[in-house]
Amino acid sequence: MNRRDFLKTSGATALLAGAGTSFAQSSLRQLPLIPMTDLTAGIEGRLPLTLAAATHDFGNAAASPTYGINNSYLGPVLRVKQGQTLPFDVQNRLHDVTTLHWHGLHIPGDVDGGPHQEIAPGDTWAPDVPIVQHASMNWFHSHTHGKTAQQTYKGLAGVMLVEDDASLSADLPKTYGVDDFTLVLQDKMFAADGTLTYDVSGAVFEDGFIGDTLVVNGSIAPVAQTVPTGLVRLRILNACNAQFLTLSMQTGPMRVIASDGGFLARTIETDSILMSPGERYEMLVDLRTAESNSLLVGMEPEEGLFNFLGGLFGGGNSTATALTLTRTADKGFDGALPSQLANLSPPDRNQATVTRDFSLEMDTGADLAALAANWGNVCGGGAMAINGQPMNMDRIDETVRKGDTEIWRITVDDQLHPFHIHGCSFRILTQNDAPPPAYAAGWKDMVHVENGASEVLVKFDYEAPEDTPYMYHCHILEHEDCGMMGQFAVT
Ligand code: C2O
Ligand code: CU
Ligand code: CU
Repeated sequence: MNRRDFLKTSGATALLAGAGTSFAQSSLRQLPLIPMTDLTAGIEGRLPLTLAAATHDFGNAAASPTYGINNSYLGPVLRVKQGQTLPFDVQNRLHDVTTLHWHGLHIPGDVDGGPHQEIAPGDTWAPDVPIVQHASMNWFHSHTHGKTAQQTYKGLAGVMLVEDDASLSADLPKTYGVDDFTLVLQDKMFAADGTLTYDVSGAVFEDGFIGDTLVVNGSIAPVAQTVPTGLVRLRILNACNAQFLTLSMQTGPMRVIASDGGFLARTIETDSILMSPGERYEMLVDLRTAESNSLLVGMEPEEGLFNFLGGLFGGGNSTATALTLTRTADKGFDGALPSQLANLSPPDRNQATVTRDFSLEMDTGADLAALAANWGNVCGGGAMAINGQPMNMDRIDETVRKGDTEIWRITVDDQLHPFHIHGCSFRILTQNDAPPPAYAAGWKDMVHVENGASEVLVKFDYEAPEDTPYMYHCHILEHEDCGMMGQFAVT
């Protein structure tokens, strides 16, 4: 299908979908509950995570070829507790090499699951992963050099909810699948026969993969869920390859209680959240004051489609309903919206003893592109870089002293990029030369970089030797595979 045909079909589909939503409410698909493994009460034996090819129905009755982790698509939700050590057996049953990275965990480099910890087909990787950090929503995904984008897109991703004594006794909704829901948001493309496609030919590397269909927990949106009358908690992961999502509620503000690395100081009310790939936010929805409410997700239109739809609808609105919550007569969690959540003092930039600069570069020129390809980056003939260097597995870019507090200052030459650092949580000092939005002022491991500089205050407490270093990179997965990544040791 050429671009013109694509625009015609997409436009027509969008029109039909728009007309259908008002009377198709009763036929809404049910929100899939991702199977949850609750380990908070204790762990017996080792924990198998089996990565395998499968087929999965995204709700359109087609058998899409996928990858899954103990499931046909995506992995389980692992609910674990601070102080535990998780004895994983990560079994690679794929016909391809892979890795599994624990995004957000404060763990040493040798169990981080980055691109140096390859698992050959048929092999098992058995890291013992210590959970030291406090309550937070983390995730795990493929981090295979040059293949992270395609493997994660196919389904190699899952959620890990870390709880601690405070979160387990907090006055918050916490019954999984009743008033506490984990939502994995992704954008996908489907072929005419309904099967999942991933096409990175042509200019796709520039923007990263942008899909036209929103998927929630492996089901095409919109999806619906009934809940008891009370407060409901949504723990949300943007697991898109490249898409920034704008979250809002159909009625009322969003009430945000946690970001990537844990609880905020207090509930933050905001009209919308701009959520990059890799980010997590938790929020509360009050179903005592409304019979129903919906989580809305604004997506970037596929390039060119924006203008086309803008012409049709006079605004180019690409907001989709992700999830509609409707209350039943059952009485649910009846507590108040928490005003006090975590003790968070403002970040103090004077604590830093080292400042490092990182410049993210979209276009490195032909010479570096050839080198980048030699180094295993996958970029359709181009390359991307950080500080003039595309990713090289054999080069350590930075060495950090364990226990040091640093300021990392990130700039870009073009476009909006989400920057991520392994092995830590940080605080955002500035995002695009401005203070971060209140909902991003707590613990984070992702920061947006578009104009000016974004600065984070970060302390590294665990070792990452040179043979198993940590990564820092753009979390647009096609950019990462393209070479917009570097590695650092902590010694
Ligand atoms: Cu989400 Cu380097 O990872
Ligand atoms: Cu990570
Ligand atoms: Cu990028």
